[in-house]
Amino acid sequence: MSLDQNYPAISDLAARARRRIPRFAWDYLDSATGTEATLRRNRTKLDGVLFNPAILSGEVEVDLSARFLGRDFPLPFGIAPVGMSGLMWPDAERILARLGRDERIPYSLSSVATQTPETLAPHLGPDAWFQLYPPRDPEIRRDMLARVKAAGFGTLVLTADVPVASRRERQQRGGMSTPPKLTPRILAQIARCPTWALGTLRVGMPRLRLIESYTGNQGALSSTKHIGYLIRTSPDWDYLRWIREHWDGPMMVKGVLVAEDAARLKAEGVDAVWVSNHAGRQFDAAPAPIEVLPGIRDAVGPDYPLIFDSGVSGGLDILRALALGADFVMLGRAFHYGLAALGAQGAAHVVHILRDDLKSNMGQLGLAGFDGLPARLR
Ligand SMILES: Cc1cc2nc3c(=O)[nH]c(=O)nc-3n(C[C@H](O)[C@H](O)[C@H](O)COP(=O)(O)O)c2cc1C
Repeated sequence: MSLDQNYPAISDLAARARRRIPRFAWDYLDSATGTEATLRRNRTKLDGVLFNPAILSGEVEVDLSARFLGRDFPLPFGIAPVGMSGLMWPDAERILARLGRDERIPYSLSSVATQTPETLAPHLGPDAWFQLYPPRDPEIRRDMLARVKAAGFGTLVLTADVPVASRRERQQRGGMSTPPKLTPRILAQIARCPTWALGTLRVGMPRLRLIESYTGNQGALSSTKHIGYLIRTSPDWDYLRWIREHWDGPMMVKGVLVAEDAARLKAEGVDAVWVSNHAGRQFDAAPAPIEVLPGIRDAVGPDYPLIFDSGVSGGLDILRALALGADFVMLGRAFHYGLAALGAQGAAHVVHILRDDLKSNMGQLGLAGFDGLPARLR
């Protein structure tokens, strides 16, 4: 049986992932906040975006390439920042950085990753992005920016939708802490997942290694708070200007859902806006990004770079976002479902599934390139 037969969809990878990693890691990866209504809304609203299928279009050669922030990519999607990636699968950050390099798609490293920017440097492609949770202390800020730049991360992403830690009730029930506390319950979960356990033994317990280089090892704070919160602040518009002044390179702001905010960010000199509700993990009354995307596109004008994420589970979802105004799409959980299901091969299989699904649906639409998508919206 081939990978395609066993795992034709990302949901097949998720189902295997769930069995292969300890419950606390699964709940961390898969949960959202509150009743998880926003997580569900992301799916429902994407499903509601319909296209007029095409007939009699003749043979069409599909071009999946996309241009974003002055760069050409063979595919219109990339890897979103996921904190504690290494908790879901040992060595996750290195595997994903290499996947980004090999597929020539962007890879984003979270501030709260388990590996440092320096460790990843040898594995990065030209499109390595660093996601910043904003340090309060200007010295740490300066140092972090200099370090990530030197390591090869040319684009900065300031995440703006985590002013405070959110409550993730399912995650709390799962017994998660960062780094994992080895209680009898957690040990029992780990014992059921030998491949994960052996891999974790090999690469070391998942820890926030970049953050620890500033805080030292202070252990776990709580189930949804980790030591990242010790150095982090809730940024304001002055903070944004400071970052804009001190980062010499493209910079984006992630977690935008309001058109006026997007227009203001553009006016402040931010190079791209990332429309996202953090996969429903932060605020359970947030709109689905796909609902607000057209209004944000109107507010920033036709040429301003916009990224979309939250809830993308196939190539068709990527087409929906591109049709409604996004230039590029990112995925967080999908790559980690792939990793947790099958390791590096699973993450690569996610790219394969998305590419195949993009091609198939572009064929149904009779389109050679993404420019024709808006005209085919129903
Ligand atoms: C387990 C997990 C951890 C995440 N950690 C971060 C993070 O450290 N920084 C950040 O900006 N976004 C983080 N995100 C949000 C992702 O970057 C992205 O916005 C989201 O996962 C996209 O939705 P998707 O998972 O449905 O593709 C995280 C998401 C998940 C699922």
